[in-house]
Amino acid sequence: MVYGFWVSRCLQIMAELGIADTIGDVPKSVEELAKSCGTHAPSLRRMFRLLSGLGVLRKDEQSDCWGLTELGQMLRQDNPGSVYGSLRAHGHLLSWQAWGDLKTSLQTGLPSVEKFMGDSFFNYLSAHPEDAAIFNGSMAAYQTLNAPAVVNAYDFSQARTVVDVGGGTGTLISHVLKAHPAIHGTIFEMPHVTAEARPRIASMGLAERCDVVDGDFFASIPKGKDIYILSQILHDWDDEKSLRILENIRDAMRPDSRLLVVETVLPGDNAMHFGNLYDMAMLVLVGGQERTEAEYSALARRAGMKVSRILPTVMPPSVVELVPA
Ligand SMILES: C[S@@+](CC[C@H](N)C(=O)[O-])C[C@H]1O[C@@H](n2cnc3c(N)ncnc32)[C@H](O)[C@@H]1O
Repeated sequence: MVYGFWVSRCLQIMAELGIADTIGDVPKSVEELAKSCGTHAPSLRRMFRLLSGLGVLRKDEQSDCWGLTELGQMLRQDNPGSVYGSLRAHGHLLSWQAWGDLKTSLQTGLPSVEKFMGDSFFNYLSAHPEDAAIFNGSMAAYQTLNAPAVVNAYDFSQARTVVDVGGGTGTLISHVLKAHPAIHGTIFEMPHVTAEARPRIASMGLAERCDVVDGDFFASIPKGKDIYILSQILHDWDDEKSLRILENIRDAMRPDSRLLVVETVLPGDNAMHFGNLYDMAMLVLVGGQERTEAEYSALARRAGMKVSRILPTVMPPSVVELVPA
């Protein structure tokens, strides 16, 4: 536990330097890799030695060439389930500085990242396209595993219209649309994200079946859809802001509409759980929080809804289905 961040940092810098992609399927010499990413070869070799001990890299027995192990392949950008996006987002995007300044968040209850960003997380991203691309890429990469899990866990077959509110660049809705050809989709997002989502949706051949709409979920949300999705949205916000989003969705819903809140539900005890780790990231980065089933039920009640069921997926998030009360 004491030295854990040293390991994370080595992996983050591997990603930032693009080393796994440069190695690809063919082991390369340290000299060649150092040259291609502008580093000092003897120092790079020392990091490789550590990463080899951790099972990420493997040295060729006869030469100074290094290749990727099966685990190391997960650092390549193009592999399904790649951790490249998460490493870039958390090694960059000021997440690194925010964690370094955790004490500020513990003292104030506010996201320490704002000190470095000079603004709230999503406002900062809207004004910094390169950082936004890293963040959006990390969400899309995570969704390549998460979206199939959601589509398997929840039966969308009766729906004809689905809107993904704060739907990022469209990975989740595209999985729903591909699995259910009769559904028409909508992505509702901030303008700097829809600008990335539109060409992605078009490149998947879904432009005719998916509207990409600019908007602000604190203002108003497209009305009268069968299913509303909020995937990893409520955990970005405190209870008051979450309530505003939920009330806006409640206003947009028909009596028979459903809202799917896709979030990691905390077990409510103090056992080790991925959600408790992520909860701390929400504290330092966005001022949000992960929640228990009881906390989601309380929020739903305040917004005029109720939790009708919670469906686990094979990934950390569950599908929490809300219906008008
Ligand atoms: C943690 S990401 C989740 C993205 C996606 N739903 C997923 O699960 O991969 C949160 C998203 O909320 C969007 N967002 C933040 N504030 C918003 C607002 N006021 N209106 C609409 N979308 C917003 C962000 O642009 C970002 O894409």
